[in-house]
Amino acid sequence: MSFTILGTGKAIPEYTMKNDELSTMVETNDEWIRTRTGIEERHICKSETITELTVLAAQRALENAGIKAEDLDLIICTTMRGENITPSQACMIQKEIGATCAAFDVNAACSGFIYALDIAAGFFERKRVKYVLVVSMDNLSNITDWTDRSTCVLFGDGGAAAVLGEGNDLLSINLTATGNDAAIRIPHGTNSSPFYEHEEERAVLHMAGNEVYKFATAAMANGIKKAVEDAGLQQSDIDCVIPHQANIRIINTAAKNLDIPREKFFCNVQHYGNTSSASVVIALDEANRGGVLKKGDLVAMCAFGGGLTTGSCIIRWNK
Ligand code: UT7
Repeated sequence: MSFTILGTGKAIPEYTMKNDELSTMVETNDEWIRTRTGIEERHICKSETITELTVLAAQRALENAGIKAEDLDLIICTTMRGENITPSQACMIQKEIGATCAAFDVNAACSGFIYALDIAAGFFERKRVKYVLVVSMDNLSNITDWTDRSTCVLFGDGGAAAVLGEGNDLLSINLTATGNDAAIRIPHGTNSSPFYEHEEERAVLHMAGNEVYKFATAAMANGIKKAVEDAGLQQSDIDCVIPHQANIRIINTAAKNLDIPREKFFCNVQHYGNTSSASVVIALDEANRGGVLKKGDLVAMCAFGGGLTTGSCIIRWNK
């Protein structure tokens, strides 16, 4: 037994930042950002906290699933950095929604949601759970270097969640990691120890964009190919691909290297930018609520990010 997805929800900060606003902060322009990334706007937290958005996403997913918080057996939150070092973000969500189950965080950067699905599948397989809530959120605006034009145009804030129940709709899943702190790295930033001998670094994202781009295009195509094969399917069987929304060119290149028509790739990067581990599940929620997904559809999901990590899977949509 694995699981079935019973419901999804998302919570997006109110403030919309268009490309033109970025060009007042760094030397960039709308045309460069659109043509190099496909991004037109992103949402940025002003008053919203990580806890408010993760709780709202969780409540919306529970409502969409028709499940009460009291019925949950496990909450997994995927985040690189929650509201606090401790308690975990999953425990903060648990407190606010009134659940009483086990709760913990997972950090696999942008691949976090797929990592959490595999972890959840193990809990279902061992019959430890009937209902699991996975919530994904990174407050990237808080760890972005707003003076670095090569990164600050790429990211946005947002959270999303999925409720899983007993079922057999995870058909295959693959996780990879290649220890690499040169391509993407976000240092902690502060150290309160009076004994610490190293210099402190700012807690902002550093990225070698071209290296990540090459890694990402290969990871997306290879991840989907492997997930399809492991599920005993052909690429032509796939009804919808929900890819990590980092750059439209990465999605287009991956599509060219696969036998899945480009129109089957669900894309919303133009409205959100890269929201890290929330990206796949925000897109899944929009495909769910927008009527893109039909009962019985075979859906491929694929993500890549800091680590460097990747995750890919095939699910049967059964809602
Ligand atoms: O979740 C995983 C996270 N990361 C990613 O997925 C990122 C993967 N990488 C990418 O998406 C792309 O590599 C970028 C969008 C980051 C960069 O696109 P690129 O086509 O690889 O551009 P580039 O880095 O090769 O830069 C081309 C030019 C450079 O100028 P010169 O040296 O040719 O004069 C940059 O300085 O574009 C310049 N540039 C910009 N110009 C205007 C870099 N950023 C900007 C900018 N506005 N924001």
